[in-house]
Amino acid sequence: MHPVVRAGLGAAALGAAGLGYASLIERNAFVLRRRSVPVLPRGHRPVRVLHLSDLHLMPNQRRKVEWVRSLAALQPDLVVNTGDNLSHRDSVPVALHAYEPLMEVPGVFVLGSNDYFAPGFRNPFDYFRQDSRRGGPAPATLPTDDLVRGMGDGGWTDLTNRRAVLEVAGAAIEFVGVDDPHLDYDRYDLVEGVADQSALLTIGVTHAPYQRTLDAMTKDGASLVIAGHTHGGQLCLPFYGALVTNCDLDTSRVKGVSRWWPGAGSEPSSAAPRDAAWLEVSAGLGTSPYAPVRFACRPEATLLTLEPAH
Ligand SMILES: [Fe+2]
Repeated sequence: MHPVVRAGLGAAALGAAGLGYASLIERNAFVLRRRSVPVLPRGHRPVRVLHLSDLHLMPNQRRKVEWVRSLAALQPDLVVNTGDNLSHRDSVPVALHAYEPLMEVPGVFVLGSNDYFAPGFRNPFDYFRQDSRRGGPAPATLPTDDLVRGMGDGGWTDLTNRRAVLEVAGAAIEFVGVDDPHLDYDRYDLVEGVADQSALLTIGVTHAPYQRTLDAMTKDGASLVIAGHTHGGQLCLPFYGALVTNCDLDTSRVKGVSRWWPGAGSEPSSAAPRDAAWLEVSAGLGTSPYAPVRFACRPEATLLTLEPAH
């Protein structure tokens, strides 16, 4: 066989193996990340927050549903769901079944674009464009109201463009949430205000971590902001990381815990001020059904422990 043909076949086999691994193995290799942030007053007992995001559920994804249900065994004090629950219009009952054992504890949620619109085929290179939202036919809508009603009836609090104070583990925690900034549905003007001084802390909740939302929440006194949407880059380079965040956040903050303060996006390399907020971004648990692959970026949920500041 000609060496060039042999090299071509070798590269094709490697590519096929990589694609097979990304679609069959890593996409289903759910992992629980444990992270902590020092945001509580000295001496306060830790508060355990289960952060779920971007399930992108299809009606037949039983393995993912059972894995999410099993997280109730962690006995968190609070569940935060940062949206993109659905990938199909028949998935609402499946999502509510996945969350059912977790609705025993206080919870809050915001919505993402994949709670409003069914996914469609996207050119993967769209994600490298400055504004990845443009183009394509109008997508089909999803039964958003059924999802919101189901989570609300289960006991979780809707934070789409809302502020709320909840009792969590015996303490009052204030939340400020927005509708999805990726769709320009965020209306921070409806929720902006001064942080409730009687609350233990203020937590900002958003699906997509756009800079304008992070700036507004941290300017308002949120000491922690929780977000999803990025999928951690979804297809990452080993030893390098994410290539895209699918929003205007820099790739160094694409997943995990980092610091944010008003204006941080225009000077990401400068040192964080002492009073900077903490930012937790989840790589999420799913993918679009049209790009069912993950590489060097396992699907995740996070057990985020709020701890006393030292
Ligand atoms: Fe998503």
